[in-house]
Formats: sequence, C-alpha cells, structure tokens
Amino acid sequence: MSDFFQIAIDGPVAAGKGTVSRLLAQKLGFLYVDTGAMYRVAALLAIRNGVDFSEEDKVVALLEKSKLEMRNPLPPKETDGRLTTVILDGEDVSWAIRTQKCSEGSSKVAVLKKLRKVLVKKQQEIATKQNVVMEGRDITFRVLPDANLKIFLTASIEARVARRHTQYLIKGTNTSIEEVTKEIKERDLRDSNRTNDPLQVVPEAWLVDTSKLEIDEVVDLIAKRVDELRD
Ligand code: DC
Repeated sequence: MSDFFQIAIDGPVAAGKGTVSRLLAQKLGFLYVDTGAMYRVAALLAIRNGVDFSEEDKVVALLEKSKLEMRNPLPPKETDGRLTTVILDGEDVSWAIRTQKCSEGSSKVAVLKKLRKVLVKKQQEIATKQNVVMEGRDITFRVLPDANLKIFLTASIEARVARRHTQYLIKGTNTSIEEVTKEIKERDLRDSNRTNDPLQVVPEAWLVDTSKLEIDEVVDLIAKRVDELRD
C-alpha cells in the first residue's frame, strides 16, 4: 500500500470521468491525473511525424524522446475550460490532443503493448509522490491495483452521446448525434476488446452511474466515501 491516498477511476468514454475527477481532486486537494491525455499525446506525436498508429516501436520511440509535463491549469491563461494542462516539448497541446483525429488515434495506439507498459510505469511513478485522483481505462486493475478507493464510473449510451455532442458544440465542431454515437460505439468496442488490458469492472469496484446525477452530486457522493475511508 502506498504512503499516499489513491483514488482510481475507470469507465467508458464520455461517462464524466474527467470532470468528476478534476472537481473531486480540487475538493480534496489531490492531484488529478488524466491518463487518457498521455495516450492522446502518443497519437498526436504519431500524426505529426507521419507514423502509422500501428507502428509500435516508432510510436514508443517518439514518446520516449519527448518531454511530457502535466499539471493543473494555471490561471488566468490556462483557465479556458480545459481540465488539465499538457505540455509537450515546451508546447501547450492541451487542446491539440482533443481533436476527433487524436481521439480516434488514441484508442488505436492504446492497443500497443509496449506503449502501455511505458505509460503505466509513468503513471505509477506519479502516484508514489502525492495523493491522486487518477482516471483512465486500466487504473483500478493495472496501474493502481492497491488503490484506497476503486470506482467504475459509467452512464447510459444516450447520456454519454449527449455529453460528448455538447462538448463538441462548445468547441465549435459541428458533428451530428449519429456521428458522435458511431464514434463512441467504435471507441467502446476498441477499449473493451483489445487484447492488452481491456476495460473491465473489477469485483471490488464501486459502480457509479452518472446518467441521472448532476456532476456535483457525483463529486459529493465520492468525497463523502473518501472522508469515511480516511477517518
Ligand atoms: O479518456 P480519453 O478519451 O482521453 O482516452 C483516450 C484513449 O486512451 C481511449 O480511447 C482509451 C485510451 N486509454 C487507455 O487505454 N488507458 C487509459 N488508462 C486511458 C486511456
């Protein structure tokens, strides 16, 4: 067991993991770690360097020679709606990694075994240094299997599509509900069917369905459980 308190959150795309984790971390004074951002950075590097998402060694090499920094957004410049600030080789790529192309690419590079190994190690290192709320697809069973609290955050497909669609609209991306549904279903399939660490619900995980709850209700619910566990 680590010296620090670890909250591990897994769940499918657009279940609200990012927003919930960010607010929860803020409320508790923990570090929020968005592990999906790391897979997105790997996809961005592949796109920018003309490397195919399936070229494992090349994608890993690109990542290993880059400097990646992640931090809570610094006011005032970085408080523009982002949940986390991602700096790649000195460049702020917090929004560049959120395009549809990067979303799709991230779920493709996420099947690469060597890449997962490198990223899991980085994530485990972060969690040995401070209290964390870490979210992703393999946190409860691979990255932090001894976490103090394990949560599987989910929501109905309708709620997830509606949320992602609104996020795209806010960003000015004009995408239809049908396109977003297709994208989410494709990513679900890839996340759940990959050979290496597919998304799964561990028996001890607390299943939280966010379909009918406001974000603040979810955050309060989890914070209450954390208080009980720390008492
Ligand atoms: O949470 P997200 O949409 O930003 O994640 C991007 C992709 O990365 C997603 O398709 C699945 C993958 N991922 C993963 O395989 N393992 C993680 N711990 C986090 C994300």
